[in-house]
Amino acid sequence: MRRIYLDHGATSFPKAPGVADAVASFLRNDAGNPGRGGHRLAVAASRAIEDARESVAELLGGHPERTLFGPGSTFWLNTLCAGLLGPGDTVVTSVLEHNSVMRPLRYLEAARGITIVTVRTANASGVPDPAEVRSVVSAARAKLVVMTHASNVTGAVFPIEDIADAVAPVPVAADGAQTAGSVPFDFASSGLAAYACSGHKGLLGPTGTGVLLLAPPLADELQPLVRGGTGSRSESEEMPVLLPDRLEAGTPNGAGIAGLGVAARWLLARGVSSIHQHESRLVAALAERLSSIPGAHVHGWDPGRPHTGILSFTVDGADTGELAAWLDRERGIMLRAGLHCAPAAHRWLGTFPSGTLRPGLSPFSTGADIEALAAAVEEFAARRRST
Ligand code: ALA
Repeated sequence: MRRIYLDHGATSFPKAPGVADAVASFLRNDAGNPGRGGHRLAVAASRAIEDARESVAELLGGHPERTLFGPGSTFWLNTLCAGLLGPGDTVVTSVLEHNSVMRPLRYLEAARGITIVTVRTANASGVPDPAEVRSVVSAARAKLVVMTHASNVTGAVFPIEDIADAVAPVPVAADGAQTAGSVPFDFASSGLAAYACSGHKGLLGPTGTGVLLLAPPLADELQPLVRGGTGSRSESEEMPVLLPDRLEAGTPNGAGIAGLGVAARWLLARGVSSIHQHESRLVAALAERLSSIPGAHVHGWDPGRPHTGILSFTVDGADTGELAAWLDRERGIMLRAGLHCAPAAHRWLGTFPSGTLRPGLSPFSTGADIEALAAAVEEFAARRRST
């Protein structure tokens, strides 16, 4: 049976060409501790990481000194929320956030007494218009906006640059976990104060990697979530002020970052715009095909809005987990079912608590992959109707 991996919203597979070799080569040849010594292996590790930093910064429009590496977007979103919100502060967010935003905010609500205000947009997709965000931010006197760049449940892309422009000078921190590497984006011209993303989804790198891009003045102010050794200013028991060291305590994931650097170079050569066009075309065809199946429903799909390569659907009378297991077992198709760590999004869509099935496409997905999924869903739905 052909195996069809359609769970790129969770993590990409396969990785970009060359990533696995770069990880193995780092471990075989360069695996010193960067910045912690002057010997050749420490220097080789530093070089691999700084090369990767240049590549990722070029891909996303970040300044290399303000392009930080960490274990994932969750880590960086926690750093942003904990570093920027204190007692009495109000933060504005959307109805479509992942728990990587909502759990740190709920923690800070309980621990520091921050106030969370959600934009309950008039738009059925859950994606707010910039003017709606502006009016909520101004009424709430918000200190910060933390918002996803695209829903990990519906794939709808937020007009994050226009939102940043509308609420300025209030800073906007974006969760780019579902957009980095698959939706054209330039941090330098975005107007965002911060952008956090995973290295292992659209960036096609290894798990255990994530990126934070910062703009001034936030870059000078943001305090770390984690403190420790940096290899620099070792005479001091205080964290260094300079970036990247201030926000990169502890030995970094050199092998993962070396792989991420190779993935970024592959994406630069392939072109994020062309990947976005490819995934947009396929996901629109999949939405249309699934919508035509009796008993199948696509949720939060708005053909007039830019989308990532994911969508959410359900089939009448079918448990989402049962259908996902059947697709894997009987048709070799792998995708995620359930709430996708985004309960608020499902409450908004009316799919809580059973959730949805969520196919996610990649640059390597094909028309044959989506037709295989649609045909399998059609067969399952027909069987379900006849029982
Ligand atoms: N955040 C990932 C997802 O949406 C794991 O599936």
